Amino acid sequence: MNDTGEPQEGHNKIPAGWLIFFFAAIIFLIWYVVSYTPAISGWSFYDKYKKEMASAAKTETAAPASKYAGDEKAIGEGKEIFASNCAACHNADATGGIGPNLIAELKYGSTEQDLYISAAKGRPNGMPGFLPQLGSDRIIKVVAYLEKLRKK
Ligand code: HEC
Repeated sequence: MNDTGEPQEGHNKIPAGWLIFFFAAIIFLIWYVVSYTPAISGWSFYDKYKKEMASAAKTETAAPASKYAGDEKAIGEGKEIFASNCAACHNADATGGIGPNLIAELKYGSTEQDLYISAAKGRPNGMPGFLPQLGSDRIIKVVAYLEKLRKK
């Protein structure tokens, strides 16, 4: 303590940087409350959630594999695509090699959608994703070919 009784005005100066921070914090707080209060800005966690779910659903159903089901020409192309891209690991007749047998029961599911995702995005234990290389149309053809093999 300083007991001289002199006024201590030097102690009352607030550093400019601190003031700037202080007012910036208040402005930020007001902005934050206004923009995230549903009654003021209309922002809603549920709206955001709904939008995210809707866009995710769109990408998940973006693989209408069945468009080539029974289409012999497309299945023939699928067979060629399989021979040059997949047979190295899954064997020419898809009965398996480095990769699993694709005519037996499948770990990741065997609906068109499952097969499409396996081929397009890959699977963790050594299955590469082929979407960048083949594009979705050719993958759909391979899937149609696999489905035909699986039905036999
Ligand atoms: C480099 C080798 C390799 C190539 C090339 C390859 N695969 Fe695979 N594939 C694998 C392996 C390994 C697995 C097992 C992955 C796992 O268990 O996580 C697998 C898994 C799969 C599965 C899922 C099987 C299950 O049990 O659910 C499908 C479907 C599949 N491959 C299709 C294809 C198709 C179609 C192609 C060609 C476009 C292809 N693969 C090319 C190695 C390969």
